[in-house]
Amino acid sequence: MQLTDSVGRNINYLRLSVTDRCNMRCFYCMPKEGVVNRGHDAVLSYEELQLIAESAVGLGIEKIRITGGEPLVRAGIVDFLARLSSLPGLRHLALTTNGLLLADMAKELYQAGVQRLNVSLDSLNPETFSEITRGGDLKRVLDGLDAAEKAGFPPPKINVVIMRGVNDAEIMSFVEMTRLRGSSIRFIEYMPVVRDEGWQRFCISGEEILQRIAASYQLEQVDKGPFAGPSRDYRIPGAVGSIGIITAVSGHFCSECNRIRVTSTGQAKGCLFSDEKTDLVPFLRPPDRDTLAQVLRGIVSNKPERHGISCNSYEHQNFSMAQIGG
Ligand code: 5AD
Ligand code: SF4
Repeated sequence: MQLTDSVGRNINYLRLSVTDRCNMRCFYCMPKEGVVNRGHDAVLSYEELQLIAESAVGLGIEKIRITGGEPLVRAGIVDFLARLSSLPGLRHLALTTNGLLLADMAKELYQAGVQRLNVSLDSLNPETFSEITRGGDLKRVLDGLDAAEKAGFPPPKINVVIMRGVNDAEIMSFVEMTRLRGSSIRFIEYMPVVRDEGWQRFCISGEEILQRIAASYQLEQVDKGPFAGPSRDYRIPGAVGSIGIITAVSGHFCSECNRIRVTSTGQAKGCLFSDEKTDLVPFLRPPDRDTLAQVLRGIVSNKPERHGISCNSYEHQNFSMAQIGG
């Protein structure tokens, strides 16, 4: 079965957040202080998350990515993933993590049936990494990447949010990883989510990132897989890993969007940047499978055609990626 929205996009991908807590505090994602931890009641139980996953897969979703916050900080996550991975009809189970706990957990994640990891890693320089994440330890993340490959995972995709004056000088170091390590890198345009004073200075377009790479390397376009979504993928001739550009802000994005999102408190969203959300809790407590399926189908039908943000004008409400799961 295919799920199609009102403008003909095939929606096959659910991003499911299991927690908005995180063991880091990236400055573009979370405020420095004053992050309130939600009570346990507000956050969906694993049974409730499973119900959503089952319902979505029943409608035609074939890929689920587990996100956070940081999903690996939630107790019981490995058992949950093992249950999800055996869901009939689910073809692809992936996880996005900041990698801090990966060195310890990679093996059990692999055994639980997770097929692919995305690791967020914005700098290869320990000081810059610590500044961006407000105290994160780069070495633990690098150890986590090694552990993932040892455990049997394909080289994790690395998500890099590029910010002018912060880590844009490292673009080529990441590009080299696609040749030397076989890593696939995805450069993500910085999105003005936490708008501290002067946030505009961080903006750098995907186009500029590409041009900087093209000054040193000829780039080949890479064909998209069925779940590829809005990333535009390239490769340096001879490299194993690919280079993706996610122009979340500057465009070329919405028409390829193939996903819906559900937050850890059960708010379903058709678009990351839309203020519109639907509370799924009434259909989970107690479970009402029929209505839940209808409501999820409605979220797909009402998925906005495009968002209206840019680095010059950003008028939507302040939200944190840790609440929505990126
Ligand atoms: N701009 C761009 N990307 C962001 N992410 C979190 N906040 C932002 C932001 N403001 C990214 C994380 C992670 C993914 C889930 O979302 O770095 O890779
Ligand atoms: Fe945590 Fe990821 Fe947000 Fe950084 S970007 S604070 S690692 S959820």
